[in-house]
Amino acid sequence: MSKKPQDRKAPPPTTGHQWDGIEEFDNPMPRWWLWIFYATIIWGIGYTILYPAWPLVNGVTHGLWGGSTRAEVAAEIKAFDDANAAIEAKLAAAPLDGIAADPELGPFAQNAGKAVFATWCAQCHGAGAGGAKGFPNLLDNDWLWGGTIDDIHTTISHGIRNTTDPDARFSQMPAFGDILEKGDIDAVVNHVLAISGQEHDAALAAAGATVFADNCAACHGDQGIGDRAQGAPNLTDAIWLYGGDQASLTETVTKARFGVMPAWTGRLSDSDVRAVATYVHSLGGGE
Ligand code: HEC
Ligand code: HEC
Repeated sequence: MSKKPQDRKAPPPTTGHQWDGIEEFDNPMPRWWLWIFYATIIWGIGYTILYPAWPLVNGVTHGLWGGSTRAEVAAEIKAFDDANAAIEAKLAAAPLDGIAADPELGPFAQNAGKAVFATWCAQCHGAGAGGAKGFPNLLDNDWLWGGTIDDIHTTISHGIRNTTDPDARFSQMPAFGDILEKGDIDAVVNHVLAISGQEHDAALAAAGATVFADNCAACHGDQGIGDRAQGAPNLTDAIWLYGGDQASLTETVTKARFGVMPAWTGRLSDSDVRAVATYVHSLGGGE
C-alpha cells in the first residue's frame, strides 16, 4: 500500500552532481559515525602527547609517559641475562669434559647450545645438523678435525680457514690440475674409487696407487684414512663432504676445495661457545 502524499518527507537536497541521470543526495553523516570520528581525533591528540610519536631530525618526541618498546626489550633481555649470569659464569669456568654430566650445567648447556645452534650454525650445517655439500654432517662419528669435546670446542672457537682468527684451523689441499697430468688425475681418482669400495677401472686404479703414494698420502695417509691434524678427510669411508662419484672426485682433485668456517670467539660469549660445543658433542658422534 503506497503512503499518502502528505506522509512522505521532502527528498533531501542533492549535491548537484549527476551521472547518467542519477543524482547524489546530500545526507548528513550519521550521528554515531560523527561521534566516533571526533573521539578518534581526541584519542590521537592524547596519544601523541603521552607516547613517542613524532619523528624529529635527531630522534623522536618521547611523550609524557616516556614509553619505549626498545627499552622494554632491553630490560627483558637484561633480566634474563641477570637471571642466568651465575650459571653462565659457572659454565665458562667448568672443565669442558665435566659439563655434560653435571646435573645443573648439563641441561642448561644443552638448552642454550641448541638455541645457539639454531641461531648461528643451522644456516650452514642444517637445522638438524645433518650438513650439506661442503658443510659437514655433525651427527655422525666422522670428524675432519676431531670429535672430542676439546676438539669440537677448538673448532668452534677459532673456526676453519678463515682470515679473521690467527688460531683458526688451517690446511690447504693443492689444486692438482696444475700439478698432475690429466692421465694421472684419472688414475688417482680411480684409486680413490677403489679404496672407498666403489666401481673402478682396475688398471687405472693400480697406476693411481703410485700417484696417491707420491702426492696424497702425506695428508690423507698411506691407506687414505685421512689425518685430523690437517683436516684431511678419510677417503675410504662412504662419507663425502663434496661427493664421492667420479665427476665430483675429479673436480675435487683438479681444483681442490677450501671449506671456510667463521670463528665464534668474540662473537659469542665463552659460555655460549661452551654450550654449543656441548650440544654438538651430544648429537651422536661425540667421542
Ligand atoms: C658459514 C658457514 C658455517 C657456519 C655459520 C658454521 N659452520 Fe661449522 N663448518 C663450516 C664448514 C665449511 C666446515 C668444514 C670445513 C672443512 O672443510 O674443514 C665446518 C666444520 C665444523 C665442525 C668440524 C666438523 C668436523 O668434522 O671436524 C664443527 C664441529 C662445526 N663446524 C660446528 C659449528 C658450530 C657449532 C657452528 C655455530 C656456532 C658452526 N659450525 C657454524 C661452515 C660453517
Ligand atoms: C696438503 C694436504 C693434502 C694433500 C697433499 C691432498 N689433500 Fe685431499 N684434502 C685435503 C684437505 C685439507 C681436504 C679437505 C678440504 C676442505 O674441506 O675444504 C681434502 C679433501 C679431499 C677430498 C674430498 C673428500 C670429500 O669428503 O669430499 C678428496 C677426494 C681428496 N682430498 C683427494 C686427494 C687426492 C686424490 C690427493 C692427491 C692427488 C689429495 N687429496 C692430496 C688435504 C690434502
